[in-house]
Amino acid sequence: MSSRPQSKARTPAIVRTLKDLRRRIALYRKSGESVALVPTMGALHDGHLALVRAAKRKSKHVVVSIFVNPTQFAPTEDLARYPRDEAGDLMKLASVGTDLVWSPSAEEMYPEGFATRIEVTGAANGLEGAFRPHHFGGVATVCCKLFSQVMPDIAVFGEKDYQQLAVIRQMVRDLDLPLAIHGLATVREKDGLALSSRNAYLSPDERLAAPALNAAIRSVAEKVKAGGRPAAAIRSAALALQRAGFAGVDYVAVVDAETLADWSPKSGRPGRVLAAAWLGKTRLIDNVAI
Ligand code: PAJ
Repeated sequence: MSSRPQSKARTPAIVRTLKDLRRRIALYRKSGESVALVPTMGALHDGHLALVRAAKRKSKHVVVSIFVNPTQFAPTEDLARYPRDEAGDLMKLASVGTDLVWSPSAEEMYPEGFATRIEVTGAANGLEGAFRPHHFGGVATVCCKLFSQVMPDIAVFGEKDYQQLAVIRQMVRDLDLPLAIHGLATVREKDGLALSSRNAYLSPDERLAAPALNAAIRSVAEKVKAGGRPAAAIRSAALALQRAGFAGVDYVAVVDAETLADWSPKSGRPGRVLAAAWLGKTRLIDNVAI
């Protein structure tokens, strides 16, 4: 069932079944008005809300999906403890003008007998793909489903998950999906830490150490921009992270901003520095332009 409380805060309607979603989307389509989708896993913060605001500027209707997608988590990862706060999410979404929230159960998204998976290569290879081998297959499959469920004209993603954005662009291009993908700059705390639902896991001490990740990759970007060798800059960034208290560095990489292949200053192409590292039991990722 869908509901829309009659309050001045314009609480978005929330739908939990594909049947209800399709009915709503059919009305939008019939009126010929544009639809934007912002896919999320909930526990919303200002980074997510920036995506919704951008979507609202570009489209008449904004649909936000809230679905903690089990198929993109490995059995060892944090699916069970991933933060959930539907009431808080709905209040935040009301404040930025969301029309509809699509929040299906796992059974609604993956009914008995579901047996299809989209495997993106290219942009999905290496980096996150190397450390989380099943992650992008799960992300691509759920995003493809979300696109065909919501049939948006555009979908808005954050550069915070830079490789994810590249994977989605690759899938949309390869499968001729009829929507445009918009990428939005990362929203950060004042000290540089990228907003993330997973920041909620950090202890006070870890929170103090966390901005070192952004500082380290900014330093890599500055050094290679000034002509330094990527390998040397990467080594000192990894060292700086260890000194700041990071328990392990999965990768610090300097890549081509578009293909995510290795980057060299001679290429004359835009580069990007990406990193993933552990603070205690929390895995943080970040990236910056060169
Ligand atoms: P989630 O981590 O909830 O992120 C949803 C969207 O918000 C993604 O596009 C992400 O890049 C963006 N985002 C997160 N933090 C941000 C920040 N600090 N600034 C700007 N944008 C930010 O990414 C996922 O969910 C899932 O993988 C999903 C795409 C929904 C598929 O399940």
